[in-house]
This record gives sequence, C-alpha cells and structure tokens, in this order.
Amino acid sequence: MPAKRVLILYYSFSSQTRNLLNGLSHGLEEQWVDVVWEQLRPVEPLRFPIGTVWGTLVMMCLTFFRKRFAVQPLSESCFSDWDLIILAGPTWSYNPSGPIMAMFDRDGQDLFQRQFVLPLISCRGYWRVHLFGLRRLLRRCGARVATPLIFSHPTPEPWRTIGVFLRLAGKVPQAGSGRFRRLYPRYGHSREQVFHAREIGGKLAAYLHGETESQEFDIPIPVPCDCSDPLR
Ligand SMILES: Cc1cc2nc3c(=O)[nH]c(=O)nc-3n(C[C@H](O)[C@H](O)[C@H](O)COP(=O)(O)O)c2cc1C
Repeated sequence: MPAKRVLILYYSFSSQTRNLLNGLSHGLEEQWVDVVWEQLRPVEPLRFPIGTVWGTLVMMCLTFFRKRFAVQPLSESCFSDWDLIILAGPTWSYNPSGPIMAMFDRDGQDLFQRQFVLPLISCRGYWRVHLFGLRRLLRRCGARVATPLIFSHPTPEPWRTIGVFLRLAGKVPQAGSGRFRRLYPRYGHSREQVFHAREIGGKLAAYLHGETESQEFDIPIPVPCDCSDPLR
C-alpha cells in the first residue's frame, strides 16, 4: 500500500494549535501516514505575549477587521498533491488569524484547488464565525472541505475570557491570587485534548487508508467537536 501523504499547514501564536497538532500527527504517524509540516512565519515576527493591555486591545481591534499579517514564502513542496491538507490555526477576534488570511490572499488558489482540506481550529470558545468564513474561503479556492476539528479551551466562562486576555497582555494569571488560580488553572488546552487529538489522528489515518466506511467520506472523522459550551 503506498504511504499516504498529509501536509500540516499551520500558524500558532501561543503554541496551542501546535500542541494539538503534535498529538494529531503522532496518531497519524503511528498508522504509517507521512506527515509534512509547514509553519506560517510572519514577515514581521509577532511576540507572545503581546505584553500590554493597550497592545492587546489594539491587536484585537485590528484582527476584528481582518488585518493581514504578511507571511514568508511557503516551501515549494506545499504546492504538490496531497492526500490531505490539515489547515490549522487560532481564532482571532472571530476570524482566522492574520497570517492565515495573508496566506489565502497570496497562495489560496495554488494551494487548495482540488485538494481535500481538514480545518483545525484552536480557540478560547468562539469559533462559529471563523469556521463559516474559513469554509467559504476554502470552497472559493476549489477545495473539498472535511468536517472541521474544533478545540476550545476547557476552562469555563467568564474565567477563560479573562484569563486569555490577561495572558496575552503578559499578566500571567496563573501567578495571580490563589482564588483566581483555582478558577483559571491554566491558559489553553488540556493534556486530555492533546490526547484526544492523537486518537483522532489514528482514526483519520484509518480513513485515509480506506479502512472506514465510504459514507463517512464527507465526514471523515467520526468524532464530535469537543466543545460543549451552549453560549457559543
Ligand atoms: C488577537 C487575538 C484574538 C482572539 N480572539 C478570539 C476569539 O474571537 N474567539 C476565541 O474563541 N478565541 C480568541 N482568541 C484566543 C485564541 O484563539 C486561543 O488562545 C488559541 O488557543 C490560541 O492558539 P495559538 O496558540 O495556536 O495561537 C484570540 C487570541 C488573540 C491573540
């Protein structure tokens, strides 16, 4: 059986998407799928954390209006044929992140035409508008879009919103008072979510090897999103 080839094309600002992808790629590679990574690198490097409350507010406003963050050229190999492209990144102010938007403007058609693309979103919890826009962009480029994988931060509201803001502003809530630390034990995704991503990788590999039912083609991964927040 020829090895299946998967491209992981991603941007990650604070390593959360990257952590999930590490799990997912383990699952794929355990089942003999060749995984190639391509990270989007902004031309002007972005510093995490942003470091100030004002800087964080400005970044949120700019990204609400879909500011692009130009990225360095992609490797030539990205433009070849793949069994699957996993397009992964965070939600920024209800949108795909600026580097992903810039990549679409420049390379979308050449990258995604006639490709099978699985979107993976890492977010605090508000992903619907992002997904809607991303799907539309991919379809416009001629991609076939698989059922997305969505990972929300597991901490309940309002603590995760406060926690993400403070983390971005460089205030490191974990180092704050004991009470807040109990309410917001960590920024980002849990170990269980990374482990879940690894399991999904295994199922995805089985799908790519043709070991699952063909009616699952458009919904290749028989696992629900792990977000259960009714506010979303
Ligand atoms: C500028 C900015 C805006 C954000 N806006 C949202 C948002 O609208 N919805 C959401 O759920 N998370 C939002 N987040 C949180 C990130 O999506 C979340 O922390 C994600 O896990 C980060 O992934 P990364 O480390 O791979 O970049 C935002 C983060 C940043 C930096």
